[in-house]
Amino acid sequence: MKMIQNDLLLRAAQGKPIKRTPVWLMRQAGRILPEYRAVRASVSGFIELAQTPELAAEVTLQPVDILGVDAAIIFSDILVIPEAMGLPYEMIEKKGPHFPEVIQTVQDVQNLRIADPETDLSYVLQAIEIVKKELDGRVPLIGFAGAPFTIFTYMVEGAGSKTFSKARKMLYQEPELSHQILQKITDSTIAYLKAQIRHGADLVQVFDSWAGILPPAQYSHFALPYLRQICDAINEVPVTVFAKGAYFALEEIGQMSCQTVGLDWNMNPKTARKLVGENKTLQGNLDPCALYDSFDNIRKMTRQMLAEFEGKPHIANLGHGVYPDIDPEKVKCFIEAIKEFSN
Ligand code: CP3
Repeated sequence: MKMIQNDLLLRAAQGKPIKRTPVWLMRQAGRILPEYRAVRASVSGFIELAQTPELAAEVTLQPVDILGVDAAIIFSDILVIPEAMGLPYEMIEKKGPHFPEVIQTVQDVQNLRIADPETDLSYVLQAIEIVKKELDGRVPLIGFAGAPFTIFTYMVEGAGSKTFSKARKMLYQEPELSHQILQKITDSTIAYLKAQIRHGADLVQVFDSWAGILPPAQYSHFALPYLRQICDAINEVPVTVFAKGAYFALEEIGQMSCQTVGLDWNMNPKTARKLVGENKTLQGNLDPCALYDSFDNIRKMTRQMLAEFEGKPHIANLGHGVYPDIDPEKVKCFIEAIKEFSN
């Protein structure tokens, strides 16, 4: 296997000494770069782009070349898992994902397949192989999947939602059926992450984007056990758990067998460190909207954020994905400030 030249991300994830703090951005692949929009305009839409390995690889590499981040993240989406389980999705322009069919009945749950990544998701695995070849060891490649609870919300709800009350209703009215769905998603996700690793992913992140909509007791019951199964199953590479809004679960997440815990911008890094403990790397957590501020203020806020992580194992990032209308120059300013101030 080819050695990775810039291995800051992997060293930071393992808690090893590093020269400076590594930095990448959630949702860095696409959206903010004109170079992405050009590739995107050459196809029918997001799904065609994600399913064409050469193009998915090209837009994965763009932020490495253009922004100077310390990692690539494979261009795909968390919603490829429901599709591989038998629920295809559409991506509606300016609106987001939509599932023509959703899960409602026992029969629907029985019909769900466990994803077979080598056949159902071979386009992602091929894209990973192309990216690894083209990176040629410059920086590590991050693989990812959605956390079971977040994937469950889309499979029941059929789209994004402000309240996710349909998905939450099922947890109350059909707890056993909910667990069956969550277990099938978990089995599919473990197979998928392992396949990404076999094909070249150097670290994997699990996105629990809607963790914050549940009361703590339900999160412990319907989300954490499945996240734990994933962390226990993946021993090949470091694992990052990002549970957005779930500050109430940080202590339990700190006890899982992951290496890195992602923080959103509502979490205070010092408090988070106390809850998570000393054995994990923390990732985050500048407010994505801070990148709407001036260059000067971005530098100040970035320096302040670094200080709050107190020199303990840290991977710099935003507290959630970068927004599509952020000026790429502001993103560069953030990245350069991390490199300068953490050195
Ligand atoms: O990080 C990266 O850049 C890699 C690619 C990536 C995408 N989606 C590409 C994408 C990743 C890691 C995701 C994860 C994802 N997708 C999450 C978890 C992270 C988060 O933001 O909380 C979620 C909840 C989704 C579901 C999803 N996909 C939504 C709600 C939408 C529509 C709104 C939006 O964010 O644009 C998408 C579409 C999507 N996924 C786009 C991209 C580049 C935009 C589609 C386009 O180009 O038209």
